[in-house]
Amino acid sequence: MGDSLDPRPVVVTDRLAGVGRVIGVTGSKGGIGKSVIAATLALALADRGNKVGLFDLDFTSPSDHVVLGVDRRFPTEEFGVEPHRVHGIELMSVAFFAGDAAVPLRGAETTSALLELLAITNWGDLDILLLDMPPGLGDTSLDVINLVPRLEFLLVGNGSRVVIESVHKALALLTELEVPMVGLLENMQWGDGSAVTTMAQEFAIPYLGSIPFDPGLEDALGSVHKLRKIAVYRGLVTLSELLAAE
Ligand SMILES: Nc1ncnc2c1ncn2[C@@H]1O[C@H](COP(=O)(O)OP(=O)(O)O)[C@@H](O)[C@H]1O
Ligand SMILES: [Mg+2]
Repeated sequence: MGDSLDPRPVVVTDRLAGVGRVIGVTGSKGGIGKSVIAATLALALADRGNKVGLFDLDFTSPSDHVVLGVDRRFPTEEFGVEPHRVHGIELMSVAFFAGDAAVPLRGAETTSALLELLAITNWGDLDILLLDMPPGLGDTSLDVINLVPRLEFLLVGNGSRVVIESVHKALALLTELEVPMVGLLENMQWGDGSAVTTMAQEFAIPYLGSIPFDPGLEDALGSVHKLRKIAVYRGLVTLSELLAAE
């Protein structure tokens, strides 16, 4: 079937019509804290009264349900699929469908699964929808760029040389593709942070501040009450205010 016969890309635009901003949390590297940042930022936004959605699109290792302490219940279906409402957040995750099984998808299958999820999920009216992206700028990221209208990216990085190397490449590609960028957030600061601010300057995007390495995070995973008390959350309250105000 040719692309032009597939109705789903049009449906995706409809499904996102009530969403104010769609922000993909990316950063090219795995393990840089995209999921922790996306899930905790969603919590900070919900806590300040914003209508927020969180969509975990990491087919290989979805994590937002772990950070927020959510069961992988199958979503309710009614003219589409309803995200779970948890702690004030509308949450959808590939983990709700896959259960404990790994999802070994090849390129074209990933595209189809992504299209399906975007086409069936009823987000309703939201101020901000955060997309927790898989590592790298591979199939899923490129598909999201093509399919999701008004997409912006928030990049997570730090000053470690291996991170700088890959975030630099990601920024160059996103600049070339003309994807709007909210800015660059430092997580688990490495060194004095100057490498990250310099990179933000080089690409003329906002530097969104620095979230410290927080030894209390591990114990707080899965409990929003504990998450609200740690430095990661406090650092993201400022960012949530900035995003909600723009
Ligand atoms: N600010 C932080 N302080 C302490 N640990 C962190 C912080 N951010 C992330 N982590 C930890 O780093 C690991 C990777 O985070 P994760 O959000 O899964 O990264 P990604 O989604 O980019 O692969 C996890 O074990 C997470 O708990
Ligand atoms: Mg992740």
